[in-house]
Amino acid sequence: MTTKIALFNNKGGVSKTTTCFNLGWMLAQRGKRVIMVDADPQCNLTGMVLDLSGEDALEEFYKANAGRNLKDALEPAFKSRPVPLKPVDCVPVTGRDGLFLIPGHVALAEDETSLGIAQQLSESLQGLRNLPGSFSHLFEITAEKYRADYVLIDLSPGLGAVNQNLVATSDYFLVPCSPDVFSVMAIDSLARVIPRWTSWADRASKLDVLAEADYPFPKPDLKFLGVIIQRFRLKNGKATSAFQKYFEKLNSAVAETLVPALSGANMMLENSEYQNAGLDSHLVLAEISDFNTLIAHSQQKRKPVFTLTQEDVGRGGKLWGNTESNILNFKKTFEELGDRITALTEEARH
Ligand SMILES: Nc1ncnc2c1ncn2[C@@H]1O[C@H](COP(=O)(O)OP(=O)(O)O)[C@@H](O)[C@H]1O
Ligand SMILES: [Mg+2]
Repeated sequence: MTTKIALFNNKGGVSKTTTCFNLGWMLAQRGKRVIMVDADPQCNLTGMVLDLSGEDALEEFYKANAGRNLKDALEPAFKSRPVPLKPVDCVPVTGRDGLFLIPGHVALAEDETSLGIAQQLSESLQGLRNLPGSFSHLFEITAEKYRADYVLIDLSPGLGAVNQNLVATSDYFLVPCSPDVFSVMAIDSLARVIPRWTSWADRASKLDVLAEADYPFPKPDLKFLGVIIQRFRLKNGKATSAFQKYFEKLNSAVAETLVPALSGANMMLENSEYQNAGLDSHLVLAEISDFNTLIAHSQQKRKPVFTLTQEDVGRGGKLWGNTESNILNFKKTFEELGDRITALTEEARH
């Protein structure tokens, strides 16, 4: 049985994609089998895995790899073709056994309109009945083919039909955010939107026309894992005071607004489960400081910051000593994040 985790925040630039890649890598490093899904038409995750530096690199990839991306794999459902969906032939991530990618497609946004209409659950649904359940079905059959323990779904910012579908049909979601005023506002908005989405999904799953579709819309059972706060500067090993202020604001937005809203919609795990995984009442899964210059090496080498070697960064002597201790700190942070995710999701829920 695979566990689907959506990484979501309607705010952009909060490390959703970076975290998806790093967390996927760490879970695979810990022996799990992981499929990452690039569900953002911007295809940033795809760009972290494939070398897209050439001008038409993405176009060429699509041409040479027919059907090997999220949009094309869903085409039988979206174009009402009389052939069943097939598992995606995932891209294995170089350098990390057990880690795979379903590449994104820049034109996925075009399918969003029909999905949006289908998800209005109106009378006209008959012809579009296979759309709402198609994503989950595709992930299930692909996960089965790869014997995947986890499917990590990287989403675009925004509140469109694809995000609504993929968040509401996941088993869990986590919220990457940055210590700034926009992330605090985004938490408030998630507190309103996510319960609306799951109550929509609940209605959808009870609709005969969707239950009888080729790809029935699943009954939602979404739970919240926590937030990841990322990209702040350190001074003497602690976030600087300018950032500290936003940590506190995020903490109260989570504890006072988000958790009560999710609780009311039955999306929280038991308190003891968060505690056993090492989280306090603010449900912070990880605090990840700014990678600084390491991010450039990580992007260039297509591997997470925590796996960089001396050869990767090309630094000698004393300079390497400092860099190495930074890398080891990030490694510890991501190991702890991986362990917490495993602990929270492996409680016998499914
Ligand atoms: N901890 C970090 N330190 C430094 N840069 C980061 C960190 N996390 C992400 N970034 C950079 O910030 C930018 C936005 O991150 P990204 O993961 O693409 O966010 P999102 O997917 O939420 O839009 C990217 O250029 C990424 O390389
Ligand atoms: Mg992104």
